[in-house]
Amino acid sequence: MAIIAPSLLSADFLRLQDECTMLNESEADWFHLDVMDGRFVPNISFGIPVIKQIRKATNKICDVHLMIVEPEKYTEAFKTAGADILTVHLEACTHLHRNIQQIKSLDMQAGVAINPHTPVDLLQDILQDIDLVCMMSVNPGFGGQKFIPQTIQKIMALRKMIAERKLQVKIEIDGGVTLENAKDIMQAGADVLVAGNTIFGSSNPKETIAKLKSL
Ligand code: DX5
Ligand code: ZN
Repeated sequence: MAIIAPSLLSADFLRLQDECTMLNESEADWFHLDVMDGRFVPNISFGIPVIKQIRKATNKICDVHLMIVEPEKYTEAFKTAGADILTVHLEACTHLHRNIQQIKSLDMQAGVAINPHTPVDLLQDILQDIDLVCMMSVNPGFGGQKFIPQTIQKIMALRKMIAERKLQVKIEIDGGVTLENAKDIMQAGADVLVAGNTIFGSSNPKETIAKLKSL
């Protein structure tokens, strides 16, 4: 059974309290929170004050995905804001190992995100230190994009790598997840499905979450 992580990016920002209540009543497991800085990605989303408020309104695990440069500057601030899982991009970190240690020293779970062009092999020497790989299945920056099909091969390769080394790292797929492709993504070896548009763009988000959950 997949861990379902609805992405706030596609929620109605004028009704965040209602969206949190809806998620609290749903079968969702995590709340995926996308932070963008306009430098690492060509878009700006929301940041620490918004996450602080979400933390008060949600009983779900706060899964914070940082699409920002120099994430180490803000690790503590995101912990204080209420992040349970903090994910940084491999492409944004010169000292990735140090950043991961910093996240773990603050008692958060640590994730590494990789862009669609980044080979899973580059995770070899960090895999034993992390809890989660966030594999981007679209180019980060925007919700509602189309799933990149080559991601399926990457999921299988990473699943094999994790199994061979007997690790417990979770594979999270982020971008373009739909009711149509979710099953293939799970079968390839994913543990966590992020979904923005598919959930918040549907007429009955709770039901859509239940459907994703039951795949
Ligand atoms: C994209 C974000 C995603 C986004 C997914 O940069 O990291 O989390 O919200 O949105 P959908 O599910 O609509 O592709
Ligand atoms: Zn994300």
